[in-house]
Amino acid sequence: MKITRRQLIQAGAGLATGAGLCNPLLAQPPLNMVTIPSSGQQVPGVGIGCRNYRGSLNSADMPVFRDTFATYHRLGGKVVDTSPNYGNSEEIIGRLMDELGIREDLWVATKVDREDRASGIARMERSFELLGGDSFELMQVHNLRGVEIQLETMAAWKEQGLFRYIGVTTSSDRQYEALADVMNHHTLDFIQLDYSLGNRNANDRLLPMALDKGVAVLVNLPFGRGRLFNAVGDRSLPDWAADIDATSWAQVFLKYVMSHPSGAIPIPGTTKPHHAEDNLSAARGRLPDANLRREMENFIDPLLG
Ligand SMILES: NC(=O)c1ccc[n+]([C@@H]2O[C@H](COP(=O)([O-])OP(=O)(O)OC[C@H]3O[C@@H](n4cnc5c(N)ncnc54)[C@H](OP(=O)(O)O)[C@@H]3O)[C@@H](O)[C@H]2O)c1
Repeated sequence: MKITRRQLIQAGAGLATGAGLCNPLLAQPPLNMVTIPSSGQQVPGVGIGCRNYRGSLNSADMPVFRDTFATYHRLGGKVVDTSPNYGNSEEIIGRLMDELGIREDLWVATKVDREDRASGIARMERSFELLGGDSFELMQVHNLRGVEIQLETMAAWKEQGLFRYIGVTTSSDRQYEALADVMNHHTLDFIQLDYSLGNRNANDRLLPMALDKGVAVLVNLPFGRGRLFNAVGDRSLPDWAADIDATSWAQVFLKYVMSHPSGAIPIPGTTKPHHAEDNLSAARGRLPDANLRREMENFIDPLLG
């Protein structure tokens, strides 16, 4: 019998509920987990994006970054997404994980963003130097750059145990056709793409493909880089937010992404401890069903103009 992604997710949520009962750390409901189809591994349903972790290691931002990471980890967060393409984000994340002693607790994803084989290898070796550890959970081809060549190296390194999973990313629908092509010709564990309540194009083809092929999904730009917050302004939450246990707009936006049948895992970018806590709270409680998802879309569309 083939187990559907939805069944896997529900099984994960059920297991998480059981585990949460005996976790004294959590006075609040347990984190809902998502099951990665290619392995059966479970991870909490909300990650953290590190695009804005940049600057001097001595800057006044560092203690705030550290506090954000410590908060995310303390509350049970695992999935961390960075890239050599985000300034010195890998250096900062490596430093924070080292100082906090949490490298082994986290589920680390980074990327390679080079065209040719040798440059890709050099880039990935440097990621190991900066992020530490003997392996990464996920290595992704950033924006499909040099995708055919990089996937060859990545598949070989996965065989050697350097990566648990491999995947590709985009954040633009101009690359959706190319991404679909890669999904049809390669065995991927993950794709990463842009999808949100205000940007639903990935649902036309790529998310159904991922569901069908058993490919896990990380979702970048779950807030449209803040566009969704601007759209709702200072409006109060609608009554239906209580039906999905959402107490902030961020949780509403993240729960929309998480309720996609593909079991998508949003990786909201934040450098603020209270936002990390807010975002991770979206992984607790109920998610919208298909009817409420439509209501959410009808609510946001006029506000986005
Ligand atoms: N092609 C690719 O591979 C690609 C492209 C883009 C992004 N990404 C990945 O996806 C991640 C997310 O994308 P993004 O950071 O560009 O966009 P995003 O997650 O849609 O939005 C981030 C913005 O939302 C704000 N924010 C976060 N949590 C909030 C909350 N609870 N309440 C209010 N505001 C909140 C952040 O500000 P604060 O910092 O003040 O919280 C930041 O301004 C990136 O960090 C990166 O890891 C990958």
